[in-house]
Parts: sequence; C-alpha cells; structure tokens
Amino acid sequence: MLNPAPTDHPVHELIQQRFSPKAFLKRAVDPATLQSLLEAARWAPSSFNEQPWAFIVATSDRPEDFERLLACLVPGNQSWAGQAPVLMLTVAKLAFDRNGRPNRHALHDIGLASAQLALEATGRGLAAHFMAGFDAEHARGTYDIPEGFEPVAAVAVGYPDKPEAPPGETREAGFAPRRRKPLKDFVFARKWGESAALAT
Ligand SMILES: Cc1cc2nc3c(=O)[nH]c(=O)nc-3n(C[C@H](O)[C@H](O)[C@H](O)COP(=O)(O)O)c2cc1C
Repeated sequence: MLNPAPTDHPVHELIQQRFSPKAFLKRAVDPATLQSLLEAARWAPSSFNEQPWAFIVATSDRPEDFERLLACLVPGNQSWAGQAPVLMLTVAKLAFDRNGRPNRHALHDIGLASAQLALEATGRGLAAHFMAGFDAEHARGTYDIPEGFEPVAAVAVGYPDKPEAPPGETREAGFAPRRRKPLKDFVFARKWGESAALAT
C-alpha cells in the first residue's frame, strides 16, 4: 500500500488504500479499465434512480482533448494533474427528469458515483484525485454545458507514484500525512453536537 489511511477502526482495504496522489506513473489507462471505472460510477444509487451525473473524459493520448480539459483547472492543479494520463470533469443535472423540480440530492448522488469510481480505481491499482480547483464557467464554455447542469469537480486518474522526496528524505516521506477528525466530532445522538456513545 502506497499511503494507507491510519484508521481508528478496521475498514475494507479499498477504503484504507484510497488516497489522492499528486504524482502518477507514466502509464496509460487502457480503455477497458476506464470503462470499468465509469461502470462503477454508473451503478451508484441515486434519488429516484435519476442518475443525475455526467462525466467528461480526456486522455493524454489525445493531446488536444487533454489540453482542453487541463486548461479548465486552476494553475496550482494543472502543475501536477497534467502528469496524470486521464482527466475528467463531473457535471450534475440539477432538476429531476421526471418533473423538472430541483433535485436537492443531485450533488449527493454525483458524490456517490464519484466515490464508486474512486474505489473501483483503487481496486485496480489506480487512483482518482478530485479537484474543486477548476474554473466552472471556463468548463461550461469549453464543453457547451447547458443551463441546468452544474460542473461539480475535476478528477485526475492514473497509477499513483511516490512523490518527490524532500531533501535528505525517502520518497515515502513526501506523502502528506493522512488526517481525519475523530468520530466523536461528527457522530451524534439525541442532540446536535452531542457525541454518540459509540463514537467516544
Ligand atoms: C470535492 C473535492 C475537491 C478537492 N479539490 C482539490 C483541489 O482542487 N486540489 C487538490 O490538490 N486536492 C483537492 N482535493 C483532494 C483533497 O484535498 C483530499 O481528498 C483530502 O485532503 C483528503 O486526502 P485523501 O483523499 O488522500 O484521503 C479535493 C477533494 C474533493 C473530494
């Protein structure tokens, strides 16, 4: 495992293995693998089974397409995500197909689909690194994304590599520490803010 999560309780190894790398091997992701990642997203649950997600995909073997997606990212993300072999942009449909009303759970559902994609990627030795750092209006213009659809996140996908080492350190030391809030900070019972007994 490259950069495992130091969990407080046991979890499935896919969850322990998943992380957001900033370094990728120079190895292409074959189309069948990419199809499986998107298939994993496809089978996410969604409110009323509306599947309010779309994925725009660009691979580095098509440099013109890749550069178009890369140009949507903020410079701080372009610097590392440009090394990944695959970039994606997730887009949510904000209203229900069934009645045109606002779908309050569209972002929830695209998050679930994205999580499934990330775990499928992890299971295949790949990693998906999500990014809020992109220009949504630039993306809307680049891809003619219609009104009623919201660009949500960019994603870099590839085979993770060890980061460059700080001077005098091993390459493993280049990984950012994995940190999370403890369960007691966000698992409540009886009253908002009151930690559930099982979380203390
Ligand atoms: C919606 C979303 C937006 C994010 N935006 C960025 C980003 O713009 N740039 C970046 O380097 N990482 C970004 N991240 C990665 C997070 O910083 C990362 O998931 C978090 O630090 C936890 O690390 P881990 O994924 O390795 O467990 C984003 C993650 C998510 C889910």
